[in-house]
Amino acid sequence: MKVLLIGSGGREHALAWKIAQSPLLETFYAAPGNPGIADHAECVDLDVDDHGAVLAFCKDKAVDFVVVGPEAPLVAGLADHLRDGGLAVFGPSAAAARLEGSKGFTKDICARFSIPTGAYKRFTEAQAAKAYIQQQGAPIVIKADGLAAGKGVTVAMTIEEALGAIDDCFDGAFGAAGAEVVVEAFLDGEEASFFCLCDGKTLLPLATAQDHKRVGDGDTGPNTGGMGAYSPAPVMNAEMVERTLKEIIEPTMRGMAELGAPFSGVFFAGLMITERGPELIEYNVRFGDPECQVLMMRLKSDLLPLLYATATSTLDQVTAEWHDDAALTVVLASKGYPGSYEKNTPIAHIPTESEGGKVFHAGTALRDGQLVATGGRVLNVTARGKDVGAAQQRAYRLLDDVQWDNGFCRRDIGWRAIDREKNM
Ligand code: AMP
Ligand code: GLY
Repeated sequence: MKVLLIGSGGREHALAWKIAQSPLLETFYAAPGNPGIADHAECVDLDVDDHGAVLAFCKDKAVDFVVVGPEAPLVAGLADHLRDGGLAVFGPSAAAARLEGSKGFTKDICARFSIPTGAYKRFTEAQAAKAYIQQQGAPIVIKADGLAAGKGVTVAMTIEEALGAIDDCFDGAFGAAGAEVVVEAFLDGEEASFFCLCDGKTLLPLATAQDHKRVGDGDTGPNTGGMGAYSPAPVMNAEMVERTLKEIIEPTMRGMAELGAPFSGVFFAGLMITERGPELIEYNVRFGDPECQVLMMRLKSDLLPLLYATATSTLDQVTAEWHDDAALTVVLASKGYPGSYEKNTPIAHIPTESEGGKVFHAGTALRDGQLVATGGRVLNVTARGKDVGAAQQRAYRLLDDVQWDNGFCRRDIGWRAIDREKNM
């Protein structure tokens, strides 16, 4: 198979690393890729916003299958354009990607198909939103409707904070994404992520994971794209997985098909496990970053046939096998992230793949032969172990061999699961 992977982050490096192990793979391109992905695929300088150019490249190189990593090209309709051009594509249509592209859309789906989630209301102007907040009280959650790179959500513990968040949204803090706002009930519980492939009519559950969104140890400081993750998430026991499938994922799959926008790709359900059971916080329509890195470490099966079966509506013909071990990834970020940070700082050394360990590249580039950090989140140091504690030890051992003066990380990734393991 001739495959093109779209994206350039740690998620895509993990996908590339796994796809490259497939005996089905003949030729592998990535656009734009990164220096880590370049170990596995030929990186091509394609403008992925130019859907015509991506299709022309695929035709020229006889690419059979395109795997889209990030959400923005999906929401922009890249998968539709390539499918119309006759290609197999992993990733939903723009109509189905609204599950991530519009929080209000997803809440309406939940209401219509009785999917458990926090009570909510949608607003397009500040005054009505503020009146609703006054009436509901705090804690309460304010969300910019559109894609805001994970920054459009305020969990307000006071009414003042909530009212301020409304002003921020309508004053343009999140650009067009904040022109509409969802105000939502605060859900109390433990968060977890659940990943499940869907070809429109069949589901293939993958695995669970837990991200660490705050920048600082002990879950302090501002939100980030994710500072580390582990899989599996212990809170997602067999009963919670079963209930998530029955109460949340299956009704979404059926509902989207009923609305004429069948979902094909990976459901990434952000869940709150409340005392009532699993409730949906949000959907993403692509793999999580850095959650994908730990999923790929744990996946025993060949990834390529799973993605291809998703794209070709043959998921009922494949199964996925997993290592029973846990996997954990620690994000090394540029000092200053998620605020401003220096770019092009040199990375002197990255340890090579070791047993059960691997450093994935996210925001890196090669400048005159020197590896440099170009992004906020730069490297994902990932390891497997018999439990989360063992995976954590291995990951930090590997991480301490990285030589990059401008990098920092959290030192406590996995703490919740490790506390549980200690108490078992
Ligand atoms: P999101 O960008 O939707 O994933 O939201 C960012 C974070 O805000 C989530 O990971 C949760 O920690 C928190 N959050 C979002 N919605 C709620 C809610 N209804 N109740 C409590 N916390 C929430
Ligand atoms: N790590 C969270 C996300 O990928 O959205």
